[in-house]
Amino acid sequence: MTDRTDTATINAHSGAPLWLLAELTYRCPLQCAYCSNPLDFAGVREELTTAEWLDLLAQAREMGAVQLGFSGGEPLVRQDLEQLVAEARRLGFYTNLITSAQGLDEARIAALREAGLDHIQISLQASDPDVAAAVAGSAKAHARKLAMARAVKAAGYPMVLNVVLHRHNIDQLDAIIALCDELGADAVELANCQLYGWAHLNRAGLLPSREQLEAAEATTGRWRTRLAERGRAMDLLFVVPDYYNDRPKACMGGWGSIFMTVAPDGAVLPCHSARLLPMTFPSVRDRPLREIWYDSEAFNRYRGDAWMQEPCRSCDERHRDVGGCRCQAYLLTGDPDATDPVCSLSPNHHLIEAARREAEDGAAGTVGALTPRNVHESRIFCRS
Ligand code: SF4
Ligand code: FES
Repeated sequence: MTDRTDTATINAHSGAPLWLLAELTYRCPLQCAYCSNPLDFAGVREELTTAEWLDLLAQAREMGAVQLGFSGGEPLVRQDLEQLVAEARRLGFYTNLITSAQGLDEARIAALREAGLDHIQISLQASDPDVAAAVAGSAKAHARKLAMARAVKAAGYPMVLNVVLHRHNIDQLDAIIALCDELGADAVELANCQLYGWAHLNRAGLLPSREQLEAAEATTGRWRTRLAERGRAMDLLFVVPDYYNDRPKACMGGWGSIFMTVAPDGAVLPCHSARLLPMTFPSVRDRPLREIWYDSEAFNRYRGDAWMQEPCRSCDERHRDVGGCRCQAYLLTGDPDATDPVCSLSPNHHLIEAARREAEDGAAGTVGALTPRNVHESRIFCRS
C-alpha cells in the first residue's frame, strides 16, 4: 500500500485532484427537502457498474487523488460498497462514508471495517423525532440513525455526526447538541443548509433569520465552554450559511483545483451541484479521467481569472475567493460567469438581501410545507 500522507503533500504542488467524491447512486430511502442532488435526479438511470467504479478509482489514484468520499443519494444502497471500499483501501485512498445510516447494521459496519473503511459520517435531521421525520420523509429513520451512531462508535470508529441546520430545527440547537453529547459523538458538523438543488427549491422555507442564526452561534459557543469545562472532547464545527456573509467562499477551493465529483452515471463534475449549470460535463464512459481533469473545456472554464467579469476582474480579493461559487451565481442571476451575489460588491447583492428579508418576515410556512425530494417531483422537473 502506498504512503497516503506523502502523496497528499506532493500533490498540493502539482495541480492534481486531491479529493474525489464518488456519488455512487442518486437512490435514497429518504426525501430530505434540502438534498443537494439535482432536481431531475430521476432522469439519471444508468449507474456506473462495479467494474467501471473500480477502473475509475484506479485512474483517480494514479493521478494522485488521496481522499475519497463515498456518498449519494445513499451509498449503502449499492451492494458493492464493501468491494469498492476494499479496492480503494488497497490503492491507498483515505476513505470516508457519508451516510444517512439507512441500510446500515452491525454486520455491515463489520464488513466495512474489514474492507478497510477509515471513517463514517452519519447525518441527523433533528433532535425531535417528529421534526426529523417531517424533514426526512420517514418516521423510522431517526431511531436507526441513533442506533447506528452508537454501533459505529462501538466498532471503534470516531463518531462524526452532521446536522444540516435550517429555520425549522435551528431553534432546537441546544437539544441537538445535547443529543450528540449523549450519543458520545467525537465531532459534530453543524452545517447551515447550503441552498443548492432541492434546498434552493425550498429556500424560502429553509433559510433562517439573522436572529435565529445569532442565537444558534451563541448556543454553540456556550456548549464549547461547557464541554471544555467537563474535559469532554467533542468538536463543534458551526458553518454559517453563505447568505449571511458579505464575501463568498472559494467554492471547492477553486474550480477544478483540488476536488472532483463523479456522478452516478459517470459524469465528472468540479462540484456536486455543477449539473445545474448550462454546460456539458464529460463522462468517464467516454474519456479517461486524466484527460477530463486537465484538458476538458468544462474543467478549464473557470480556472484562473481570465473568465471573470467586473467587479471580480479588477478586485484585489479575486485570488482569495476566485469570484465565489459558480452554481450560486447561476442559480441567483442566470449567468454562471457572474460575481457570486453573496459578495457585497456584486451588482446583484440585492438578491441576497431580499432573501434575508424574506427570512426575517416569518412567512416561511411549516416544515410540512417543504417540497420533499422525491422521484415524482423529479420527473416533473425533468420534463420542464
Ligand atoms: Fe471576490 Fe469578486 Fe467580490 Fe472581489 S468582487 S471580493 S473577487 S467575489
Ligand atoms: Fe458548484 Fe460552488 S457549488 S461551484
